[in-house]
Amino acid sequence: MRMTVIGTGYLGAVHAACLAHIGHNVLGIDADPARAGTLAHGIAPFYEPGFDELLTRAVRSGKLRFSTSMADAAAFADVHFVCVGTPQLPGSEAADLTGIHAVLEDLLPRLTRDCLVVGKSTVPVGTTRAIARKAARLAPPGVLVEVAWNPEFLREGMAVQDTLSPDRLVVGVMSDRSDAVLRSIYQPLLDQGTPFISTDVNTAELVKVSANAFLATKISFINAMSDVCEVVGGDISTLSEALGYDRRIGRGYLSAGLGFGGSCLAKDIRAFVARAEELGAGASMSFLREVDLYNLRRRRQTVEIARDLAGGTFTRRNVAVLGAAFKPGTDDVRDSPALDVAAAVHRQGACVRVHDPRATENARAAMPSLDYLPSAEQACERADVVMHLTEWQQYRDLDPAALGTIVRRRRIVDGRNVLPPSRWLAAGWTVRTLGRALR
Ligand code: UGA
Repeated sequence: MRMTVIGTGYLGAVHAACLAHIGHNVLGIDADPARAGTLAHGIAPFYEPGFDELLTRAVRSGKLRFSTSMADAAAFADVHFVCVGTPQLPGSEAADLTGIHAVLEDLLPRLTRDCLVVGKSTVPVGTTRAIARKAARLAPPGVLVEVAWNPEFLREGMAVQDTLSPDRLVVGVMSDRSDAVLRSIYQPLLDQGTPFISTDVNTAELVKVSANAFLATKISFINAMSDVCEVVGGDISTLSEALGYDRRIGRGYLSAGLGFGGSCLAKDIRAFVARAEELGAGASMSFLREVDLYNLRRRRQTVEIARDLAGGTFTRRNVAVLGAAFKPGTDDVRDSPALDVAAAVHRQGACVRVHDPRATENARAAMPSLDYLPSAEQACERADVVMHLTEWQQYRDLDPAALGTIVRRRRIVDGRNVLPPSRWLAAGWTVRTLGRALR
């Protein structure tokens, strides 16, 4: 089948390459010529494990091409996946749908034959129906445009695996024909036994946002429990492990620490609360505000712990920050808790030296006032406090005895609760965590 993927960010680029991988002819469209050009050469514009190889293979096979031209898109395909971002509106909690509407206004009048437009971004419930009305208005006479919503659940860092072996596929459709088209697109995944849930468009939109809202709630829940653990001298890691064995609860998203970041969870729960309020259901979702506020409080708590370790002030203190990406496995620093904390420590007077194995370039662009070092050891030279903020495997493997000879003082905040405390304590470090009393 011939299809386009419009918007080639982390989501769209991976989706496009995966569609080509399962046999479709795909045209990726991006307004940014540099991005489209890079992708067309089979070069990934961001770090995502496994994506480079998949992209190169798909481009070489001729099944995946890229363009900046919406006229090319309209002429090429019968199915158009819209994967542009829906960020938070400046000065508001609601989602900014400008990108989606701009794509439709550009694409729809150019269509020359019937097609299916499939949205994949997280959108406020009700958006698909509004888009369908718009499509009927903007499509040329005689051209029938159907609209469906097929939310994406991929995680950055696991994007290829999550796309090719998803836990489930969810489609919100307005006709049996749209259902049939989407089933045939995903047939290779259905053949693997992937559950396929076909529903109305409002439910499909809600599945996406409620999944993210639930994950965010789980994280803030376990973080709140970690506060109680600290007060009573308990151990949050053991608590999470024990809870996780309960199949009704599960171990996922119960890792306590600095909290969630990235481009999705916080933005989505804010937009969801805003939409629920518009719909008169604000009271039902108001607890999500608490989930969000509590999550942000974790960042302040982490700064306070580090300041305490630094002797009550950051003035004339060297602080090493390990990790800048919003989580390991990605170079994405959007709403990164690590970078946010690093910036706060810097604002309070510390000399902050940051290391990240993948995200330095993006971090430097976002936060140029910090120093970036090519190795964890260099970042830690003469540090008064080390802050472990993104749990890359290489930090777990650090040798605390060796690192102890580099720093000025052996003091570390483990903002992700994954460093083996006994090794660090044995090497003479003072270790502070969020949720375990280890002094
Ligand atoms: C999230 C969802 O997991 C995806 O299903 C969804 O498709 C995506 O948002 C989206 O809407 O586009 P992602 O933002 O890539 O994916 O990241 P996650 O792996 O979910 O992690 C989110 C944040 O939660 C990270 O900052 C991570 O460090 C944090 N986290 C995760 C915790 O603090 N504790 C945990 O136990 C798990």
